[in-house]
Amino acid sequence: MMEAENKNVVLEIKDLSITIKLDEGTLTPVRGLSLAIGKGETLGLVGESGCGKSLTSKAILGINTPNCKTLGQIMFRENGKSMDLLKMRPGGKEIRNIRGNRISMIFQEPMTSFSPLYTVGNQLSEAVAVHSKKDKKKAREIVVETMKKVGIPNPEKRFDQYPHEFSGGMLQRALIAMALLCSPGLLIADEPTTALDVTIQAQILELMRSLQKDYGMSILYITHDLGTVAQMCDRVAVMYLGQIVELAEVHEIFNHPLHPYTRGLMGSVHKIGGGKERLFSIEGTVPLAMNLPDRCGFYERCGHRSEKLCCGCAPVLTEVTPGHYAACLMPQEEGRV
Ligand SMILES: Nc1ncnc2c1ncn2[C@@H]1O[C@H](COP(=O)(O)OP(=O)(O)OP(=O)(O)O)[C@@H](O)[C@H]1O
Ligand SMILES: [Mg+2]
Repeated sequence: MMEAENKNVVLEIKDLSITIKLDEGTLTPVRGLSLAIGKGETLGLVGESGCGKSLTSKAILGINTPNCKTLGQIMFRENGKSMDLLKMRPGGKEIRNIRGNRISMIFQEPMTSFSPLYTVGNQLSEAVAVHSKKDKKKAREIVVETMKKVGIPNPEKRFDQYPHEFSGGMLQRALIAMALLCSPGLLIADEPTTALDVTIQAQILELMRSLQKDYGMSILYITHDLGTVAQMCDRVAVMYLGQIVELAEVHEIFNHPLHPYTRGLMGSVHKIGGGKERLFSIEGTVPLAMNLPDRCGFYERCGHRSEKLCCGCAPVLTEVTPGHYAACLMPQEEGRV
């Protein structure tokens, strides 16, 4: 089920391409990407650095730099209404109303998301005021309540403190509170915990998971850390060189990865004679998304490539087993395919 049933789909990206004109030529870091996120679902988007995860997430919010040209459709559905975010005027009222209101985003570095000049409470109240005309006292109540919900101790006192008085983990909680203030339908979390140490990381992810249940929102969880994907996600999309190369339910993808890239990413254990096991690593580097030859993007690095099969056209994402998609002409799962 690539597109969770239509009426339960909150966000549907169709054939998204992003091009960036550079002096050397045109870069296409996102190439014909399609994805759907169901209501209340957490979809993981994983892939190595530079594969296009952030460009994709920023395209949803319309916050890529003006030199990025975006094609395709990004349909956001809510209350039976469906709108194409890419059709909205960049920086216009319509997209601004969606951004930070119906779709919220949290980034890797919470420090950069707050101004050092104002108290945390002040900035959170602003988020309440912008999206629903509430008076100051009421806004403070809502903010304190939400700070409590995300596990910030002494929220009344914390309200009047400045960002530098918060630890990284506390500030990320405050950022999550900011994202939740408008009860968004979709939360985009782009590497939300990479700047935090491991124990805090686990707490923050657990918090997001439990808040998701309370708020019933969907989450697009972007990471290159597969370890946290199992904890967080319902389904996982694996991205390589601007395309989705594999998509499946989380347990399925961990137990039966089909694409050689996914298998490499997972450090799939390959049995080598005498029962000895060795970690499989992906050799080579990701090619630049410019003037790509007409073949599988993973060709150069793939241990299973076939010149006859894999060149001349690029494989498309195809349902290999029910609900499990791979863009590979020779899906690798032993014993099943
Ligand atoms: N404004 C830009 N101008 C030129 N190239 C860009 C621009 N933004 C992104 N890129 C390039 O596009 C590719 C995809 O970038 P993106 O930030 O989406 O990667 P990512 O998957 O989020 O990586 P990471 O895991 O490191 O965050 C990269 O090669 C990046 O260098
Ligand atoms: Mg990124």
